[in-house]
Amino acid sequence: MITWIRGGDLIDPVRRKKEALDVIIEGAKVLRIVPHGGFQEEGPHIRQIDASGKLVVPGLIDMHVHLREPGHEYKETIATGAKAAAAGGYTAVACMPNTDPPNDCRAVTEFILEQAERAGLVRVYPIAAISKGQAGEGLTDFGDLKAAGAVGLSDDGFPVVNSELMRRALEYAAFYGLRVISHCEDRALSAGGVMHEGVVSTQIGLAGIPDASEDIMVYREISLARLTGKPVHIAHVSTASSVQLVRRAKEDGIPVTAETAPHYFTLDHRRVMKYDTLAKVYPPLRTPEDVAAIKSGLREGVIDVIATDHAPHSPLEKAVEFDKAAFGMIGLQTALPLTLELVREGVLELTDAINKLSWAGASILGVPGGRLVAGGIADLTIIDPDYEYVFEPDRILSKSKNSPFIGQKLKGIAELTMVGGRVVWEKE
Ligand code: DOR
Repeated sequence: MITWIRGGDLIDPVRRKKEALDVIIEGAKVLRIVPHGGFQEEGPHIRQIDASGKLVVPGLIDMHVHLREPGHEYKETIATGAKAAAAGGYTAVACMPNTDPPNDCRAVTEFILEQAERAGLVRVYPIAAISKGQAGEGLTDFGDLKAAGAVGLSDDGFPVVNSELMRRALEYAAFYGLRVISHCEDRALSAGGVMHEGVVSTQIGLAGIPDASEDIMVYREISLARLTGKPVHIAHVSTASSVQLVRRAKEDGIPVTAETAPHYFTLDHRRVMKYDTLAKVYPPLRTPEDVAAIKSGLREGVIDVIATDHAPHSPLEKAVEFDKAAFGMIGLQTALPLTLELVREGVLELTDAINKLSWAGASILGVPGGRLVAGGIADLTIIDPDYEYVFEPDRILSKSKNSPFIGQKLKGIAELTMVGGRVVWEKE
């Protein structure tokens, strides 16, 4: 069977090109990429997909999601998370280890891969814990986790407090070809805080988390990357000062990469004014100046990746007082339209936006995809960049509906998502 995706504009996020090209797929692979009109075969063995007026992009790859399984299946399962991912245009997601039990051993990594296989939708790549039980005391068995299928290491949700342990993690991880992803939080500074420390937290009387809580740890990771010469990836960058630290580190040739999430370039701490727990997230929504710095960081390539930090929580954790609510928001079905907004604002070129949503994360983790080439895997997304809609809860395929974007007008949607030549999502 051959699938012929015709008439679309194909984005190559590596060569940073948008070209009028058709994609011919056979089985799980891209057979050929040809100019419009360059493929003419017809017959029952050919399935045509009309992509005229649409963008054809390599399947989006999210290097930072929480799928909650095992242990918190009432918030999300690998199957429901994978469904939301496919609807959001993602063909692959990398899931963080803060499950119950945490993914700190072969059995959990294998379980995640089995559940993903059973779901049969997008590719799911486990990120294993850096420390046993994510307790920050002893390292996990990186070699065994890699052999089981882990593609990266992180204690996300928790910082690695002990600098010596982090140093060893960077050294051993590099030996195994695994990237360390750091959740940067000085818990002595963030303790008790529930939102950004600033004028809004003072006005509404909530305890704040200063930006220094993030910056101090970003600086430590950069120092350790310099000391060891081994790469580190900074998760969910939210402050102007972190952007500046990463910018300088890159200028100095230190092997550091960084990601941010759409809420950090879309919302600021004023969103918390009405004590809306949907806007409670770690790191917290910062100031408008921080938002501007995140955008500059994205434009200049200081921030390599846009990841969602998709963090499902049930009403049990969110329909409570602000102080008691859990940190986190879902993001798989809103990242694409919110990133396209940056393109419309002139912050990012379209090809750069797709690069940060696909190729950049894939290359940091060393997983396939992120680019469409003859002979490569047929993971792709057809995007309608002009489709406008209100983001209503009934669109949400995640088991949890904790999005601060509910009720908001969005523009741009995944029309079709294909993984290994198989359609896993098609918009009605
Ligand atoms: O807001 C967040 N939620 N930040 C994190 O680092 C963890 C995540 C979660 O697991 O809920």
